[in-house]
Amino acid sequence: MTEHLTVVRHPLVQHKLTLMRERDTSTAVFRQLLREISHLLAYEVTRELEMTTKQIETPLTKMEAPVLDGRKLALVSILRAGNGLLDGMLDLIPSARVGFVGLYRDEATLKPVQYYCKLPGELDERLVIAVDPMLATGNSSVAAIDLLKEAGAKNIRFLCLLAAPEGVARMKEAHPDVPVVTAALDEKLNELGYIVPGLGDAGDRMFGTK
Ligand code: URA
Repeated sequence: MTEHLTVVRHPLVQHKLTLMRERDTSTAVFRQLLREISHLLAYEVTRELEMTTKQIETPLTKMEAPVLDGRKLALVSILRAGNGLLDGMLDLIPSARVGFVGLYRDEATLKPVQYYCKLPGELDERLVIAVDPMLATGNSSVAAIDLLKEAGAKNIRFLCLLAAPEGVARMKEAHPDVPVVTAALDEKLNELGYIVPGLGDAGDRMFGTK
């Protein structure tokens, strides 16, 4: 993947995203749509995985057939909203290894603080896809990628549903080697750090909190 930002403009992705943005969409429907969109985003973000071949036998003959090469990839959910994307990704890539990173914002310093981190081994040999539906200020995403790099990850992609220009710029500055894949690049952040037009708080909408 050479582009720093890829916006997935597939009609199904865009249609489902519009339904998710609508304020009256229920929690159950929001969650279902997120799962469906994550299948389509997973397809995009894994488009250029390394391939090899292996010999198999069909009922008719032997053939050299394509299979994925290398170690199983790692999906890392940035808690808690990342779990909504993770579930759909795992439908498509069931043998992926899974990690979790938990960060909260320190109200005094406004900096992200890690409260949980559990990652698969041999991260340096895997494609690592970090997932979080919202790339807003970019502060927690950048901190999560910092953690992944400290743990040895070298080949990282960041997958989200919505991105704000501010977050994309922050990621590009901090981690120019990490391609970002998103379903939409929205207009801006508001004064509270919400993406506009956005969809509200992704965690609240998928878990029915608030
Ligand atoms: N996190 C969210 O859930 N929504 C936003 O708009 C920004 C960050």
